[in-house]
Amino acid sequence: MKLSARSLVASIAALAALALSTGARAEGNLTVYCSVQEEWCQLMVNEFQKATGITVAMTRKSSGETFAQVKAEAANPKGDIWWGGTGDPHLQAAEEGLTEEYDSPKLAELHDWAVKQHETAKKRTVGIYLGALGYGYNTELLEQKKLEAPKCWADLIKPEFKGEVQVANPNSSGTAYTFIATLVQIMGEEEAFKYLKALAENINQYTKSGAAPAQAAARGETLIGIAFQHDVVTPSITSNAPIKNVSPCEGTGFEIGSMSIIKGAPNMENAKKWYDWALTPDAQKLGAQANSYQNPSNKAAPIPDQAPKMADIKLIDYDFAKFGSSAERKRLLSRWDKEIGAK
Ligand code: F6P
Repeated sequence: MKLSARSLVASIAALAALALSTGARAEGNLTVYCSVQEEWCQLMVNEFQKATGITVAMTRKSSGETFAQVKAEAANPKGDIWWGGTGDPHLQAAEEGLTEEYDSPKLAELHDWAVKQHETAKKRTVGIYLGALGYGYNTELLEQKKLEAPKCWADLIKPEFKGEVQVANPNSSGTAYTFIATLVQIMGEEEAFKYLKALAENINQYTKSGAAPAQAAARGETLIGIAFQHDVVTPSITSNAPIKNVSPCEGTGFEIGSMSIIKGAPNMENAKKWYDWALTPDAQKLGAQANSYQNPSNKAAPIPDQAPKMADIKLIDYDFAKFGSSAERKRLLSRWDKEIGAK
């Protein structure tokens, strides 16, 4: 048989394409629901694809929004793994049976707080990072307006800050739910809701995502943005923005950012591969590379130098079991809707 040079090249190319496509098929796919900042989601996806050959489809949404999506899709799950976002909605998903039990071989390498989260969720979620709540203010705007720098939660309801404060909506945002749960734990529920009503007078916008108020404060679109302190720090590093981080004087709550495998995940084996990989020090180092400065859960992963120092923050003993329970989260959100959101 005589083969022309051209048909030989074509056959080799066809064979190579076939090998590539069957190779990709052999590794399979994974659908990740990601609830951290887009930049970090993308970097995680790229590095995981490189490390495993698995093809990843990723959707980024806030924590409360992702919870709602996982719940809405429960009868016909489309996602495999929910990575990132505040721990409370992950705990709620665990209690409602929307996520899978899993014991990763990496559990032994994690800090106690991350393992505790796994125990609280009866193995259906795990801690991947830690971060404290606070707020940031724009130092240039503060000077222009000749206002005194806020230091406490109590300062944010002062009349001079009318229209100057931004926070997210707790239905979509895990950050904003952490804020409500923090106030309830510091002040008691009645006082906390009185505070939220007074604060509503000063709010210029309830955003969808939790980090947005810090970014808006950095750009000078609001004087004060309530957010996790690591989200306040990021724009001061990436764009040298005039934003100052505040750790409120009364003390503050924190999140255990979490990860869960979705019940009935179409790509269960690959979901477990992501889970194990995401708990390695190498994967957890990617946060700082993407300008996200949380404290990682693997003991061997370095705490980024830029991360707010947890030891310097007056942290409350946040009751994750209670505020991550389905009944409590639903109740507090509906009270917020009725008394604050609907006004
Ligand atoms: O990635 C930033 C971050 O603040 C995480 O630390 C946190 O888990 C998540 O965003 C919360 O986002 P949201 O409030 O939009 O649910």
